[in-house]
Amino acid sequence: HPLAGVIGWPIAHSRSPSLHGHWLQRYGITGYYVPLPVMPEHLAEVLRVMPRMGFVGANVTIPHKESVLALADVVTDRAALIGAANTLIFRADGKIHADNTDGYGFIANIRQHAPDWRPEQGPAALIGAGGAARAVVASLLESGVPELRIANRTRIRAEQIKAEFGAKLVVYDWAEAGNMIEGATTVVNATSMGMEGKPPLRVPLDALSPGTLATDLVYTPLITPFLAEAQARGCQIVDGLGMLLHQAAPGFERWFGQRPEVDAALREVLLA
Ligand code: ATR
Repeated sequence: HPLAGVIGWPIAHSRSPSLHGHWLQRYGITGYYVPLPVMPEHLAEVLRVMPRMGFVGANVTIPHKESVLALADVVTDRAALIGAANTLIFRADGKIHADNTDGYGFIANIRQHAPDWRPEQGPAALIGAGGAARAVVASLLESGVPELRIANRTRIRAEQIKAEFGAKLVVYDWAEAGNMIEGATTVVNATSMGMEGKPPLRVPLDALSPGTLATDLVYTPLITPFLAEAQARGCQIVDGLGMLLHQAAPGFERWFGQRPEVDAALREVLLA
């Protein structure tokens, strides 16, 4: 009976237990996926003990995604590049393997809902430069975007990403974020703006052209003000919920031995 879970502090609001629980039930797997509230000062101790308790792996969420890198024995290249991990595998030889599947989830979501998307055909514009944006940068570069423009309220965070990810990045000033969108064929909101209870993204969107792919990492609400305006301007839109669903799939497959499906039924579980 394989055992997995999600480690965070706090953890009560995590959607991962219902997501993995749904898959366990759907595939008739006798395993468990539990929420694990772990304080930062206890993370190292907990990670050492979990394999001995029968855990085969875990997801990692706020505030542990960065600190877990130093505690893992093997860190994948993409997790190292992003500077954070969200998926751990406790290997049979006792070693902790840390990976980041957020970028995979980001791309898989777009590919599922916009199968005609061709990232290599034009520049991408990314609004935001926080932790989530770094996974988006890594995956967009891997997908072959010819140019990746980035603007962030705090400019230095965008400069930092450019310093780490290289020449295809072009940093725009926050005040120029509207201009950055001109000619972009992929536009991504990776800020928390537009989330329920927060003000909407205040970047001018008149440069959005029909046919552009617009996607948001925010999924509460599902259709953010940014996505609604993009759709009104003729863009193809992809909401952010699927990124959460897809990033969970590789871990589930590794731990429980079944590649899970991301479909409408799963979306309903998360929206309930
Ligand atoms: P996450 O892991 O979700 O990316 P984060 O690292 O705190 O969280 O990043 C949040 C992002 O939203 C950042 O790009 C942040 O901009 P700053 O780097 O300037 O903080 C952006 N953000 C949050 N609130 C914002 C606001 N009111 N105006 C503009 N950007 C905002």
